[in-house]
Amino acid sequence: MRIQSIHAYEILDSRGNPTVRVRVRLKDGSEGVASVPSGASTGVHEALELRDGDKKRYGGKGVQKACRFVNKIMAPRIAGMAVEDQRVIDGLMCELDGTKHKSHFGANAILGISLACAHAGAASAKLPLYRYLRKIYSLHATPYRLPHPMMNILNGGRHADWSLDLQECMIVPGQKKFSDRLRCGAEVFHALYDILKKRGLTVGVGDEGGYAPRLKSNEEAFRLIGEAVQAAGYMYGKQVKVAIDAAASEFYNGKTGRYEMNVDKKKLSSDELGKLYRRWMKQYPLISLEDPFAEDDWDAWKKFTHQLSSPFPLPRGERIKVRGKGTMIVGDDLFVTNVERLKKGIEMGVGNAILIKVNQIGTLSETMDAIDLARKHDYRVILSHRSGETADTTIADLAVAVNADYIKTGSLSRSERVEKYNRLLEIESEVSL
Ligand code: PGA
Ligand code: ZN
Repeated sequence: MRIQSIHAYEILDSRGNPTVRVRVRLKDGSEGVASVPSGASTGVHEALELRDGDKKRYGGKGVQKACRFVNKIMAPRIAGMAVEDQRVIDGLMCELDGTKHKSHFGANAILGISLACAHAGAASAKLPLYRYLRKIYSLHATPYRLPHPMMNILNGGRHADWSLDLQECMIVPGQKKFSDRLRCGAEVFHALYDILKKRGLTVGVGDEGGYAPRLKSNEEAFRLIGEAVQAAGYMYGKQVKVAIDAAASEFYNGKTGRYEMNVDKKKLSSDELGKLYRRWMKQYPLISLEDPFAEDDWDAWKKFTHQLSSPFPLPRGERIKVRGKGTMIVGDDLFVTNVERLKKGIEMGVGNAILIKVNQIGTLSETMDAIDLARKHDYRVILSHRSGETADTTIADLAVAVNADYIKTGSLSRSERVEKYNRLLEIESEVSL
């Protein structure tokens, strides 16, 4: 179906900052709308998010330029194209932009069009988005599988004014059905409220809807979560495990090469930090560590992965068996959903899982390429929101379309987080798993 018109405009995200929303209209009257998310602990290798820089509007964070690029430059070029040719549309936008990091139009402008085209195509095909995506990207016809949610019930780092050095402490319920995992997560979230209250700790929430109490140490987070899991009637370590996103680039001092954990009052070398993680893994049911080291500390990543992946190194040409099994070492700021960075990681034997964020790379098709490469090399796939979100639920459909292993979309509060979980509930009822 041919594209009739494309229109972008400025809206606000969950932090009250401007972001881009795009509406795509097709010749048959079908429409697709998508809103672009925005990170706070953004990786330096991500595609560029274009901001106006005019301090008189939104402190310079306006996105009117990005919207103009959509409306005045890209829209006229894309109008008339077949919406199902998503790869051609995405490719054309990259070509028109002409830069490595989409720094001409901005990844926010390009992604808005990319996602809205997918929604419009799905509407025209009268298919739910997750089915439509499988169709246009010729994805495996395996049965649908709902991702395991990683729910960020304790927020820290840049998302919560540094109440913890660890940016995210997440629970990972292991029940069979998605709806049971979600219920478990909500019950633990509420039990944690009571525990924090009893201890006189604050129960206000951070950017991703998790509590943000000022704890005495990072480690206390694992104990509190354990208590909450048990208080909610679940077994910690058996039914519910934990995952962290250290977002270590945020507390890495590039000048000294040390990781400055202010809550723990420690300045650690990468070896010492690796040792700390390994102790946590022994003491707590920690199944996944995201960004344990800074985004360019490749050697630390490599050493840590190898320490957890013995026997290593393997003879040339032999498959690394540990990938896809055992503790997950997840590259977010490290890989930035970028095929080139992931390739480097694969060659070096770094990490065994990738975080997928559509706006890190800027088009749906390049996102699919990163997922495809990860799968081919046995890396686990975790679909993710950003700390700045909208009510857009595209990532829920995307997670189901690609059979993602996990989804990270915040805590059990704040509608911009819960809406993604609710969309997954809807999909679960449709595919009746
Ligand atoms: P961000 O955080 O969206 O602020 O980058 C999310 C993450 O680091 O996973
Ligand atoms: Zn992260």
